[in-house]
Amino acid sequence: MTNLPAPIERVLYSEEQVSARIQEVAAEISAKYAGRDLKLIAVLKGSVFFLTALARAISIPVKIDFLAISSFSGRTQGVTPGMVRIAKDLDDAIQDEDILLIEDIVDTGFTTRYLLQTLAGRGPRSLGICTLLDRTSRRIVQVPVDFRCFEIGDRFVVGCGLDYQQLYRNLGCIAVLDPAALELDKP
Ligand code: IMP
Ligand code: MG
Repeated sequence: MTNLPAPIERVLYSEEQVSARIQEVAAEISAKYAGRDLKLIAVLKGSVFFLTALARAISIPVKIDFLAISSFSGRTQGVTPGMVRIAKDLDDAIQDEDILLIEDIVDTGFTTRYLLQTLAGRGPRSLGICTLLDRTSRRIVQVPVDFRCFEIGDRFVVGCGLDYQQLYRNLGCIAVLDPAALELDKP
């Protein structure tokens, strides 16, 4: 038995490793956007943990805004993968601003592509993508990832904002759940 607050099979990245990597990526972002007005946009709820850690580590002034979507990933049974809609829009316009879309994970790419298209139509000065996790092995639609913390394999993970049935977002590490605890493939 584990004493972790989740049925974890394996820790992929410890809290310390995640935090160290976020510092590195934040430094890259700070250098790239120095002298510009950067706005970080996160998708509720998964990306909020990453956004706050990243924003704290970025050394230039940033604005933040949030949107919420209802998405149906390729792992959800009975619905078309890639169906996404905005459930809560941004508070403010993004016209002529440098925008960095903050993602928890880019998996098939459907969600990110939808968001990019939606945001691009609002006339930002620039539009980039920064993701905590990138799972290129499952990509169906190509999206240009500008910054990523970790590439991961085809195992369902939780922690650092990523959930399984809304649980385990508050784990500080990124972990593979025990397959016995997953009901993803059950009808
Ligand atoms: P995509 O549209 O297939 O790229 O799916 C992205 C979304 O699927 C993410 O924002 C997550 O909400 C969810 N997702 C994909 N893989 C995982 C995972 O391993 N753990 C938790 N959520 C995941
Ligand atoms: Mg989710």
